[in-house]
Amino acid sequence: MSTIKSIIITLFLFLFMAEVNAMNNSPKSDPIDVKVDSLLKLMTLKEKIGQLNQYTSQWEMTGPAPAAEDMQNQLEQIKTGLVGSMLNVTGAEATKEAQKLAVENSRLGIPLVFGYDVIHGYRTLFPIPLAEAASWEPALAKKSASIAAKEASAAGIHWTFAPMVDISRDARWGRVMEGAGEDPYLGSLFAAARVKGFQGDDLSSTSTVAACAKHFAAYGFIEAGRDYNSVDISNNTLHNTVLPPFKAAADAGAASFMNAFNVIGGIPATMNTYLLRDILKGEWEYDGMVVSDWNSVGEIIKHGVAPNKKEAAKLAIIGGCDMDMEGRCYVDHLEELVAEGTIDEALINDAAGRVLKMKFELGLFDDPYQYSNTEREKEVILSAENLAVARDAARKSIVLLKNEQEVLPLAKSGLSIAVMGELAEDKDSPIGSWRASAIPNSAVSLIEGIKGNNEQKNDIQFTQGIRLIDGEKSFVKELNFNTTDRSGFEEAKVLAQKSDVVVMALGENCFQTGEGRSQTDIRLKGLQMEFFNEIYAVNPNIVVVLMNGRPVVLGEIAEKAKAILEVWHLGLESGNAIADVLFGDFAPSGKLPVSFPVVTGQAPIYYNHLSTGRPDNGEGNVFWSHYTDAPKVPLYPFGYGLTYTNFEYSDISLDKDQISFDEFVKVTVQVKNTGKREGTEVVQLYIHDLFASVARPVKELKAFKKVTIPAGESKEVTFSLTPQDLAFYNIDKKWTAEPGDFKVFVGTNSRDVKESHFKLVD
Ligand code: BGC
Repeated sequence: MSTIKSIIITLFLFLFMAEVNAMNNSPKSDPIDVKVDSLLKLMTLKEKIGQLNQYTSQWEMTGPAPAAEDMQNQLEQIKTGLVGSMLNVTGAEATKEAQKLAVENSRLGIPLVFGYDVIHGYRTLFPIPLAEAASWEPALAKKSASIAAKEASAAGIHWTFAPMVDISRDARWGRVMEGAGEDPYLGSLFAAARVKGFQGDDLSSTSTVAACAKHFAAYGFIEAGRDYNSVDISNNTLHNTVLPPFKAAADAGAASFMNAFNVIGGIPATMNTYLLRDILKGEWEYDGMVVSDWNSVGEIIKHGVAPNKKEAAKLAIIGGCDMDMEGRCYVDHLEELVAEGTIDEALINDAAGRVLKMKFELGLFDDPYQYSNTEREKEVILSAENLAVARDAARKSIVLLKNEQEVLPLAKSGLSIAVMGELAEDKDSPIGSWRASAIPNSAVSLIEGIKGNNEQKNDIQFTQGIRLIDGEKSFVKELNFNTTDRSGFEEAKVLAQKSDVVVMALGENCFQTGEGRSQTDIRLKGLQMEFFNEIYAVNPNIVVVLMNGRPVVLGEIAEKAKAILEVWHLGLESGNAIADVLFGDFAPSGKLPVSFPVVTGQAPIYYNHLSTGRPDNGEGNVFWSHYTDAPKVPLYPFGYGLTYTNFEYSDISLDKDQISFDEFVKVTVQVKNTGKREGTEVVQLYIHDLFASVARPVKELKAFKKVTIPAGESKEVTFSLTPQDLAFYNIDKKWTAEPGDFKVFVGTNSRDVKESHFKLVD
């Protein structure tokens, strides 16, 4: 270490100790705030701006590649303290090397913070987040996030760009797969659980990573489901639907937030003072840091709100964005903006302070290399324990959509089973999109899972039958769907004809969803419908195993298939988990976190819609809210999912028919398992506020309980509803409940419910 540098660091420590000793008299009493202030005092303006600058590595690009010369400058800039963070540097060795560049060369040796998209696992891949939400088990998401954090942190990652907490109602949008679906209540529970899972109780532990709630805000409401498109939503939707999961993430202690690419009402989210300064950092008193999305500062120019990078930098820093990801706007222009007096240095101090705070909390100043640990990396990554959780998570994420004549579960012996479809042998698609450092083609395929299933004695034959994709499968390039090759059909028909049952894998390739993967048509692509019908003609006993990252339109399959198992993209243990369910080792218990439309044109479709002024076909004429060529209700509603037994719900009983603001109402139902097997049910409670200052959704999920009930037995399920549960953002811009009449519903999904009512009085 150079002499100059050791003098500076000693000085820093001296100042720091002096501040700590004076802490009792200091207005800032949090030791980390004191450290941050001390460090800021040592830094030049340029160095502070450096902390706000984040670059990608060359190894992995999760956005448009930067220019070659910019890439070259990067190393020099790291060495001179002009880079605060890197993304897409992974692995204990590589992160250590990159860290050395900053720590050993820059004047103050401030460590880099390494960010990465650890969305549903680092190398042990869990179900995609949408799938995991189908478990209706936030504790499970917490567990898988904590394992993802354990693996990622051992590989030198400090910070994940997750959870994605965008509410999404439009299955045309490819990023539906990344979130928890359409409901703000379920979304909030999953948001908080994932933040807690990633961060644990202690951010400085080398087994946890900082979380990042994204994309702030309303990215899930892009028009027509086309990625990067504009958003124009009301304050009502923003506060009642979009923001609750973000608030839950902030309350759970999320160390960071990420901006969204979109504009809202013409104002880019990245420079949106209402979102960032008034709500997040104002009303919510959020003291974490905000990172832009990939060049979303630079994209303010494309939005047509700033003419150049300098103006974009100005608008974004004033707006409340602290770190510029891959935009090169801050590092190139903030110094000049301060020097000419256009912006106040206090803005830079605040933003840099937030970044440094996260670095202190992560323990990077105690040991900048503590995360990058090759030993731990070997030990924890892909451990048997992690894979066991991945299998459990995968089984719990599966949703049984149809099961005619109880074709499922399949017997373990005596059957000839024809397994077909490219997806049945695909070891890559189950890994899903946003796969971090997963090893390609490393998932257990469906056919492997079926053949390896415990005590399996059936005659199992596989033929591909149908290919989904022509050519390269890639995260960054468009896919080509096979629309001409029917060469496998004949063999598949012969096999189907001589088999008792056909297990057919249909759906989507993993890279058909995710960022940049919007579609105008969510029917099954390529020749899949034709293939299904050809096989159906020779053997109608078909179990469809549906692998997909978004709700899909099933068309005739919904009527014709004997059974439909929604298995999403389930992660590394996919085949094993699906086989567990197919053969009854595990009874399905998942419930849809999103509505499945009948046709694409219903999008956006969601259960918690408003009533409209003409909800019913009362007069038998055309003048009511509906379509003339399709139903207005979904094929499968939010909360829907079957299992291998049936449940009967009693009427709802309430302990009061009226409550005041300091009381609660107890809502009770008896749920009876009327079948022959033990079963797990998610008992769901919804409300409807009948008359309020603004129109309220026809149903809103407010509580649920997952209960396991032995065959033939009943369980009493009780919920307590408080006035706080009835609160919403009202006409006076207040989050409050309003007195009046409420319906309460309890049932097995958002459609099939029992109903009662009560009053809230002043
Ligand atoms: C995505 C973010 C992601 C970032 C970094 C962007 O394109 O929108 O969700 O975290 O890239 O990979």
